[in-house]
Amino acid sequence: MNLLIHGGTVIDVDGSRRADVVVEDGVIAEVGENLSAPSGATVLEADGCIVSPGFVDLHTHLREPGGEDAETIETGGRAGALGGYTALVAMPNTNPPIDTAAVVEQVHRAGRAAPCHVVSSGCITKGRAGEELAPLGELHGLGVRIFTDDGTCVGDAGLMRRALEYARALPGAVLAQHCEDPQLARGGHMNEGAWSSRLGIPGMPAEAESVVVARDIALAALTGGRVHFLHLSSATSVELVRAAKARGLAVTAEAAPHHFTLTDSLCCGYDPLYKVNPPLRTDSDIKAVKEGLADGTIDAIATDHAPHPAQEKERPFDEAPPGMLGLETALALTLTELVVPGLLDLPKAIALLSWQPARIAGLSEHGGPIAAGRPAHIAVFDPAAFWEVDPTKLASRSRNTPYAGRKLTGKVRHTILAGEPVVRDGQAQR
Ligand code: DOR
Repeated sequence: MNLLIHGGTVIDVDGSRRADVVVEDGVIAEVGENLSAPSGATVLEADGCIVSPGFVDLHTHLREPGGEDAETIETGGRAGALGGYTALVAMPNTNPPIDTAAVVEQVHRAGRAAPCHVVSSGCITKGRAGEELAPLGELHGLGVRIFTDDGTCVGDAGLMRRALEYARALPGAVLAQHCEDPQLARGGHMNEGAWSSRLGIPGMPAEAESVVVARDIALAALTGGRVHFLHLSSATSVELVRAAKARGLAVTAEAAPHHFTLTDSLCCGYDPLYKVNPPLRTDSDIKAVKEGLADGTIDAIATDHAPHPAQEKERPFDEAPPGMLGLETALALTLTELVVPGLLDLPKAIALLSWQPARIAGLSEHGGPIAAGRPAHIAVFDPAAFWEVDPTKLASRSRNTPYAGRKLTGKVRHTILAGEPVVRDGQAQR
């Protein structure tokens, strides 16, 4: 299928310019002004829109295998495409967990039919149990680059050190840590602070995160291994990463939209929609996360899309699972909360959603310039479209968004995966 993306503003790693884009056989054929459509091409109107490399989510819970009542690779892939994503890194806390070649292959097989590229992560430890290393080399041989026990922290510093030493021999491998000291966080269900005291909900201190960030920075320095910090949520953690980068250490970090848009005060109604790990924190933490995104301390906006079935999220706060949806709202939250108020310009916001995460995950097909010869993985979005989040209209199989009724600016118009418009005029095509 051939395409002409007409009348948009291209923003990519090379800058910003008015240009049409012609796509032929899955590849960008031409970029320039006033291009005409090749014969038989589909024309995608992009007037008033930004045309950028497709977004890359470093942190998606697709729940397959084992949690298909919450999400599948197909439904999560569709949610991703509607959010402008062309690649998703699938988290390994599935059932069974992604700690064997067979499960990696199962995820990749199902991913081939999804309207997003799905790349499997792999566990750091067998069963995410934190006791024995998973077969990192074997998983790496199948294309796994991000290793993580996400959902759980690798609490044993000696094991984390060994994993880092081992992974150094695997080109492109990165160890992504869910920073949560198991002892400090034990029994907690929200951020420890004024709100947890008032509500009588046991809390987890921000230090449960930051002590692991500090520890793993030390281990990155000791081993020379690459550490990526998942979903940073606290001001101290951001400061630690900033200092580590200033020392030239090979660390990267991501933040999730809920950690720059929502505070722990929202737990006031005991609604588990606001329960997430790491927990929602305070205004000063939000400010620090935003500053970290603005000054380059944080490299990527990652969704931590964590679908849960309604019956699970309707349990009492202390029994409900943590997590919230993210794929279909990440772009709009980034634009509404960071770009519109002037904290980030559009190119920087797209860098955080696209090419910077693509580099961390080693996905060279994604996030590259919109230029002739490149694979056509493209997001086209209207940065001024105004809409209201309606959970019933989301493509995810689950409904646990904390943003119901929120009015946001910015909406995906078309998503193109390998030259195929998988989203056209805001509608999923498969
Ligand atoms: O809130 C969360 N939910 N944090 C995690 O780390 C795991 C995730 C999930 O799998 O539901």
